[in-house]
Amino acid sequence: MTRAVDVVVIGSGVAGLSTALGLAATREVLLLSVGDGSTPWAQGGVSAAYGEDDPLDHAHDTDVAGAGFCDPRNVRALVEEGPQRVAELIAHGARFDRNADGSLSRTLEGGHSRPRIVHAGGDATGAEVHRALRSALERTGVRTMTGRTVGLVQSESGSIVGVLVDTGAQTEQIDARAVVLATGGIGNAYLASTNPSTVRGDGIALALQAGASLVDMEFVQFHPTVLYTGETSGQLPLVTEAVRGEGAVLRDIHGRRIMDGLHPRADLAPRDIVARAIESTMRRDGSNHVWLDATAVAPDVLRRRFPTVLASCARIGVDLLTEQIPVAPAEHFLCGGVRTDRNGATEVPGLYAVGEVAATGVHGANRLASNSLLEGLVFGRRVATALTLDLPARDRGRTHELALGEDRDPERIRTILTKYAGIRRDGAGLNAAADELGSAGTGPLATVARSVVAAATARQDSRGCHWRSDHPHPDDRWDDHIAVRLDEAGTSPEISNMFLSYAAQK
Ligand code: SIN
Repeated sequence: MTRAVDVVVIGSGVAGLSTALGLAATREVLLLSVGDGSTPWAQGGVSAAYGEDDPLDHAHDTDVAGAGFCDPRNVRALVEEGPQRVAELIAHGARFDRNADGSLSRTLEGGHSRPRIVHAGGDATGAEVHRALRSALERTGVRTMTGRTVGLVQSESGSIVGVLVDTGAQTEQIDARAVVLATGGIGNAYLASTNPSTVRGDGIALALQAGASLVDMEFVQFHPTVLYTGETSGQLPLVTEAVRGEGAVLRDIHGRRIMDGLHPRADLAPRDIVARAIESTMRRDGSNHVWLDATAVAPDVLRRRFPTVLASCARIGVDLLTEQIPVAPAEHFLCGGVRTDRNGATEVPGLYAVGEVAATGVHGANRLASNSLLEGLVFGRRVATALTLDLPARDRGRTHELALGEDRDPERIRTILTKYAGIRRDGAGLNAAADELGSAGTGPLATVARSVVAAATARQDSRGCHWRSDHPHPDDRWDDHIAVRLDEAGTSPEISNMFLSYAAQK
């Protein structure tokens, strides 16, 4: 069965919902829900510089956290348009936490020079943002559909003209003048992640097949503090950075402060620095976790601000109020992704990408805390505006299907990527990973894993969340971004080219 709409948006996290909402009044949109992605799990909040805070300070913090590797023009769009998007979210009914005087409560997280993170439900910001956007979208009457994307439809001229959806009962083709990927990151390609299991890089694999390029795939961010439950795989409970923002500190298993003397912001250094320090500490001590100590923070602050974290702790029998809790890093966010322009357009006509699946350059080599919900809000709106102003013409020529492959042994792929392309990497390990992935098939996890390994092998320096122990320092010979495309046979990702730094392109 085939039906036709103007735009199909794949993914119902903050980026997909924002895109669909922005298009609701002007285009016939279908929102394809493929699982709610990471948005409902986001704890910390949304960064927004307003009032006495200056968006340019936010831009500076974003670029410092991103190791100077950000696209300055897109960062500017992010920080300048962000407060307006947050205000609209409030108008849509989002209930952010407020102070006694009615002003928005703002907290501090790693890498920020001042408290500018608005939050909801204490540490349940993602769930509230998701709820507010969903109910705003429901009021517009936009059609939604639940299923699994199994492919894209491409015209002879190379444009994307539709999607193939497995609804459980059948595979349905939906024709569209534009398809927007809002499918999130790659969490499920690693053993342990803060992402739900539906987040496995399908959008990235499909974009590659369509002829798009990926960029900055080596920059996989690990959240420093994920609750150590004894489990080492699957979706693990986040312990938001905001706990450190309220005064908690990291200690090694002997009780010594980890971040003292390592960075001027100590426990609130950018998260790549904190994650690396924890990894090194665990390696040195032969431990599987470190401690997060919030016992000096007032109990009523912890109760009010962190109900989700407290509940996760209670499930493993630890009490954030009175004792140190065990934490360790886990995969959290992909800073790179499908290369897009500032309005979400990929290099393939008719194919757009937004949110974590996209690489707009706003995260550079390491995303600043609480810039991800913000990215979804800002760039979701930008894509919607672009497609309102200018929608590709319907391509009525012959078409072919680009089908998503199946991963034969997902656990093996996760094990390889975790072992060789985690926080610490080196050339020998990455070469071993490439060999071992040789027989992993051509499913989305295998494609994502090969893309990360190819980019991490090529980048022979360390910056942001890409840390090569055999090339431990930034090296300006590697100031270019690394792009990955499918090889000529159309089966395996390979390095396609280096392109100049964003700043140099201006
Ligand atoms: C956190 O709350 O620490 C995570 C927020 C983020 O990933 O930006």
